[in-house]
Amino acid sequence: MDKIQAAIAKARAARNELGGEAPDIPAPAPMAKVPLRRPDAISRILAPKPPSPKIARTLAWQPLATFAPNAKQMERNRIVTFSTSGKKASGAIAYDMLRTKILQEMRANGWRRLAITSPGPKCGKTTTALNLAFSLSKQPETHTIVAEMDMRRPSLAKTLSISGDVSFSTVIEGKADFADMAMRPRPNLALAVNHTRARNPSELLQSSTIGKVLSEIEKQFDPDLTIFDMPPMLVTDDTMAFMGQVDCVLLVAAAESTSLGEIDICERDLAAQTNVLGVMLNKCRYMDNESGKGRYD
Ligand SMILES: Nc1ncnc2c1ncn2[C@@H]1O[C@H](COP(=O)(O)OP(=O)(O)OP(=O)(O)O)[C@@H](O)[C@H]1O
Ligand SMILES: [Mg+2]
Repeated sequence: MDKIQAAIAKARAARNELGGEAPDIPAPAPMAKVPLRRPDAISRILAPKPPSPKIARTLAWQPLATFAPNAKQMERNRIVTFSTSGKKASGAIAYDMLRTKILQEMRANGWRRLAITSPGPKCGKTTTALNLAFSLSKQPETHTIVAEMDMRRPSLAKTLSISGDVSFSTVIEGKADFADMAMRPRPNLALAVNHTRARNPSELLQSSTIGKVLSEIEKQFDPDLTIFDMPPMLVTDDTMAFMGQVDCVLLVAAAESTSLGEIDICERDLAAQTNVLGVMLNKCRYMDNESGKGRYD
């Protein structure tokens, strides 16, 4: 304590010797200038990071209603790619091969909209569309929408036992939201069906709003592929009215009922409007040895 008192007294004496003035203390060096952040930069830092496109898509698909198709009914309707367990039906392998070819071609060209049509009725368009869709759904990263464009004789709801009262045609008219009517049988597969016949199918399919509605659905749900289940070509002009909206088309012909002449006419008309992926011969009762090389699973 004495030492402290002595040090204070010494300091006072030194100050008195200097005439009570404070000793020269060097001025502090100027502080380096720290640039102030602009308010928008701060809000950018504080704002949450937008989710990745993959997460954004998962979030967009989550609210869509789900339903579980009946396995027996799917089998009866020849949706052979529906089952995910047990031994694969031989038809399922053929659809898986078709899926891979179509995906490769569409990805290589940056195409996302595929129409499925046929010359006459009952060639197997809906069966093909659903088999392709369920085959695609086995690739978890691939998201597919199946849109029923047959507004005169809708069949998808019945084929899959989907109940409801809002039809896809109402979405096209801009009177309902896709999110409120689409049904998901798988996490990455959404179906948009019609429950009733539309009053003016041709006009609807070439309306000025349809392009906007489809783009909006794609923007919101980001499907890798949208499959449009079309009406037959030779009975109405509905399909041709819509072909300007799609990137490519698959023509389904039925062995023993579609003639070569019909295939030729339809292929030519389609090629004038869009890209023809090919002609699929369905309902073949006889396969040559080359077509059925046996199982490899
Ligand atoms: N490969 C096949 N072999 C035997 N029957 C088939 C085959 N593909 C489809 N079918 C049957 O043919 C009928 C018509 O099939 P689907 O409804 O798919 O044809 P569509 O072309 O969509 O008919 P629509 O012109 O009425 O829309 C159905 O009973 C279906 O089960
Ligand atoms: Mg059909």
